[in-house]
Amino acid sequence: MALDKPYKDVPGTTIFDADQSRKGYWLNQFCMSLMKAENRARFKADEDAYLAEWPMTDEQKAAVRARDLNWAMRTGGNIYFLAKLGATDGLSFQQMAGSMTGMSEHAYRDMMIAGGRSPEGNRYAGESGNAQGPAAQSEAWKEWELTHQEALAAQILGDHAARQTAGADATAGHARITASVYTSHVPAIGAAIDLGKTGEPYWQPLFAGYEPSKKWMEENRPDVVFLVYNDHATSFDLGMIPTFAIGTAAEFEPADEGYGPRPVPKVMGHPELASHIAQSVIQQDFDLTIVNELQVDHGLTVPMNLLFGSPEAWPVKVIPFAVNVVQYPVPSGQRCFQLGQAIRRAIESFDAPLKVQIWGTGGMSHQLQGPRAGLINKEWDNQFLDRLIAEPAELAKVPHIEYVREAGSEGIELVMWLIARGAMSDVAGTGPAPKVAHRFFHVPASNTAVGHLILENQ
Ligand code: DHB
Ligand code: FE
Repeated sequence: MALDKPYKDVPGTTIFDADQSRKGYWLNQFCMSLMKAENRARFKADEDAYLAEWPMTDEQKAAVRARDLNWAMRTGGNIYFLAKLGATDGLSFQQMAGSMTGMSEHAYRDMMIAGGRSPEGNRYAGESGNAQGPAAQSEAWKEWELTHQEALAAQILGDHAARQTAGADATAGHARITASVYTSHVPAIGAAIDLGKTGEPYWQPLFAGYEPSKKWMEENRPDVVFLVYNDHATSFDLGMIPTFAIGTAAEFEPADEGYGPRPVPKVMGHPELASHIAQSVIQQDFDLTIVNELQVDHGLTVPMNLLFGSPEAWPVKVIPFAVNVVQYPVPSGQRCFQLGQAIRRAIESFDAPLKVQIWGTGGMSHQLQGPRAGLINKEWDNQFLDRLIAEPAELAKVPHIEYVREAGSEGIELVMWLIARGAMSDVAGTGPAPKVAHRFFHVPASNTAVGHLILENQ
């Protein structure tokens, strides 16, 4: 199902959405670099040499050299980023905006003084207003189009073929959530794997609990894992605290949390599905933060090891989804449960027959601070597992304070499990209760009670 993009037929206008952002990523990041005086000086001294440092397309570089903003926008540029280039040349926003209209600087300024451009005839493509014409083109852009006609034709053919394939996929089906997986994510589990200690008496019972999971995963491997986890002051410090952040990049490096990066493969993303989910979920009124630069910490990599072992490369693509459970206010269980339902609708409206699992990680009971450190509440944890399976909507009503009192201050990580549970088909009313493929509980791993569930959609 195509996403709602009603802005496609506004004349003379390019809306900067996820598709444009992906296309223009390095062009826009290059523009950002011009916010440093030292970089502006280097760029002005030798444009070609400076541009050579950026992995932009040749066309983007040509558009920059030509200072053709319409052309730059066509290749994915956004005006607030491109404005850094204009500012480097000493241009005002009025000069930059006017340069894209085909009018002279004076005529544009006079139009603004006379009250600005009228929306009459300029609301829809094909009306008779004065913004309906093709974008003004610099001589350099015209020449580029002439000399690249073959490449452009090939691109149009390619786009057509891609659309046809997408069309074929659409008839083949849409993405589906096949199962949800829940697990704790203690860093010491990662250290035990990395240091070859999994067979030691302390660790053996814990890893034994995940043997059936790895076997299940071999038989039920998805194409993509939508992995809900929390960032532990790793990619997000106090400079930025997004409540819900979706990773839309092509890859994510394992972070150095102070011990050196874990020796695990880098995580490969799924930018198209992630952008689709971002757009769909935001259109369902959940305001996600979109993240293109993200290093993933133990919250993500330890669950990957527990379910996939230690392969050379991870066998699935992963969409990291980070939830703030560090600085209060953190999202409520209710909000997480509703968000899971929105994520399900987003995934199942993606026109490709992908098998997607959604994971909820973190928890169970643990407290890592103060005189109450070490708190474990087996009874509460097991009741949480029971209720997550059987009555998640009721469980979602539990307030934060109960998690803190009963499961310890860091036990609040468990709210993330409700996102995964909310995405299951019984919650949407489109399927029966999920099958419990595996359940495991163990105390302790470091300071934590470890809980694990696999629920299959029927
Ligand atoms: C521990 C558990 C966590 O969830 C975490 O993020 C850090 C440490 C622990 O039990 O040591
Ligand atoms: Fe944690």
